[in-house]
Amino acid sequence: MRGDCTRSTAATAQRLEFYQIREARRWGRCRPVENRGRSAVNPVAFEAIERAAQLLHDGALIAFPTETVYGLGADARNADAVRRLFAMKGRPADHPVIVHLAGADLLPRWARETGASAEALAEAFWPGPLTLILPRASTVLDVVTGGQDSVGLRVPAHPIAHALLARLLVLGSDGIAAPSANRFGRISATNARHVAEEFGNAIALVLDGGSSRHGIESTIVDLTTDEPVLLRPGAITVEALRRVLGSAPRTPSSQSPRASGTLALHYAPRTAARLVSPDELARALSTSTRTAMNIAVLARSIEKPTGFAGTWIRAPEKSAAYARDLYASLRTLDALGADEIWIEAPPPDDPDWAAVNDRLRKATYRQ
Ligand code: TXA
Ligand code: MG
Repeated sequence: MRGDCTRSTAATAQRLEFYQIREARRWGRCRPVENRGRSAVNPVAFEAIERAAQLLHDGALIAFPTETVYGLGADARNADAVRRLFAMKGRPADHPVIVHLAGADLLPRWARETGASAEALAEAFWPGPLTLILPRASTVLDVVTGGQDSVGLRVPAHPIAHALLARLLVLGSDGIAAPSANRFGRISATNARHVAEEFGNAIALVLDGGSSRHGIESTIVDLTTDEPVLLRPGAITVEALRRVLGSAPRTPSSQSPRASGTLALHYAPRTAARLVSPDELARALSTSTRTAMNIAVLARSIEKPTGFAGTWIRAPEKSAAYARDLYASLRTLDALGADEIWIEAPPPDDPDWAAVNDRLRKATYRQ
């Protein structure tokens, strides 16, 4: 049993505390919120969660797993800690962060109005990979909202995230402000090693819950205007939202609030990356280009041609598995020092691929 939660010092620098909590998924669904005073986690993991919650409570920054990507968290009621979070990410002050909650019953503490759409979406998809943008309660810190009159809220489903939020609540704080655990504009972290690569020992602690289940960030729906607006596609699809809302959310207009994930260049590798159709990829690889340039490829349907000398990753064919592996694959390809990364474009108009295509467009955007 002891091996379920080990504190490892080998791979990490002196100051960074690193806790591996394996088999998190076996803990199953989160307990109902009314039971949250009790721990929902494996007792051996409790020590790690307790330590992380205490550090958050003391104003430190820690990284933790969620079902989408890893988050870099600060106590959302501590302005100084949230300011350090922005500095650590290199994130501009006017880009708000999502506040993560232990349960939907905490919504009224953070949003001054909820409304039927918010309640229906929370009921249908929380805990889970959906962020709701709602009018902020007056007590929400400006530093969290980037000065906007709204706040982004999410109840994550990952048992470690949930246990951490529940424990922090017992210590007296009711939310964790957490952007994805990557430097601003860069590829999100989907495992603890990625977090260590991004921040080293500049943060206090990493809870290692293995690889993220969805692999891309939450779906974001803005509910501050008359009609719901989809600010960022994610694992909760437009079709799933439509079923609950009665009609599909609108796409953002120029008046929609700014979300850093909606900037053209985001989630980007350092190596120049190109999105190429399967035909283009096959054609280009049969010409001399393939020897003249050092190209790394993220393919999906195309087999590695014989004689291709560069690195070739064959991504899963199905969208959910593709999304799960995407950032890890991009990080691997980015570390090679290749001239370019070529990415075989998934089906462009298939709604199943909307979230992946959104991230690929941003990763390959060129001015
Ligand atoms: O899956 C996720 O959402 C992950 C995990 C850690 O929960 N978090 C995440 O956070 O992706 P971040 O900060 O990398 O992206 C959150 C996006 C940003 O584009 C931010 O601008 C937007 O949410 N956002 C947050 N609060 C907002 C608000 N009040 N109005 C508009 N956009 C908001
Ligand atoms: Mg991010």
